[in-house]
Amino acid sequence: VDQYAVFGNPIKHSRSPQIHESFAEQSGEAIEYHKQCVDVDGFNDAVKQFFAASGKGLNITVPFKLEAYELADTLTKRARQAGAVNTLALQSDGTIVGDNTDGVGMVRDITEHLVWPIKGKRVLILGAGGAVRGVLGPVLEQCPASVVIANRTASKAASLAKAFDGDCRVVGCGYEALEGFAFDLIINGTSASLAGDLPPLSAQLLAPGARCYDMMYGSEATVFMRWAGEHGAITADGLGMLVGQAAESFALWRGVTPAVKPVIAAIRQQLA
Ligand code: ATR
Repeated sequence: VDQYAVFGNPIKHSRSPQIHESFAEQSGEAIEYHKQCVDVDGFNDAVKQFFAASGKGLNITVPFKLEAYELADTLTKRARQAGAVNTLALQSDGTIVGDNTDGVGMVRDITEHLVWPIKGKRVLILGAGGAVRGVLGPVLEQCPASVVIANRTASKAASLAKAFDGDCRVVGCGYEALEGFAFDLIINGTSASLAGDLPPLSAQLLAPGARCYDMMYGSEATVFMRWAGEHGAITADGLGMLVGQAAESFALWRGVTPAVKPVIAAIRQQLA
């Protein structure tokens, strides 16, 4: 049976094995998938060992996404744009390709699962760390009217915007510079929710019918979702992004795109 795994540290709470086992069952693909806690100094060795023992593909999570980027023999465009790798796949010639499925996973969750359009919309992204860098390329590919990246440290937002200035207009700024602007879609990519914090946001940022997406998820609505809901916006959390990025990895490895809806529903039920 073809072997797959997720490498991270910590890894105990990873839902990836459950998600990929559901995909395998659903598609009839015979795979085995386990989670492995990798020593912080032992990533390269662990990867080499895994593929030497005829492993076929890996998911990579915190804190190894940059090391995986360095280790890969070739990189997909979206991995290069993200500057990080969450998926490694063994090729038939023995080389290892590095991909990043986080952004496309989130975009497909938003556009196909939630059916919120991005094309032509005014998009605001909160945060300028690795999570945001990982999704910017695929968001821009949807051709939004504009993308504003707002961050506590404005200079980080500005340099991220500069790196991504392509066919659509991207700007980066601090939160105070948002005054007077309104957005159709706001995506929270800060880690503020983890601490129960909320970036300084005014309700005027929400255009009529605005939608708010948090890359985080949990058993309850995040502080960002509660803020958005209180001001009349439609909200969603990042559970669909988690399942979506896994589906894209599975598709890269197996050539089969699994259905995400039943898997999202099953995990949602476990969270409740
Ligand atoms: P990740 O890889 O998850 O993106 P990161 O690179 O540490 O993690 O980035 C965390 C992001 O959340 C940053 O944009 C950070 O803002 P700064 O760049 O100014 O540090 C943002 N962030 C974290 N805590 C925050 C808070 N309490 N309020 C606002 N933004 C916060």
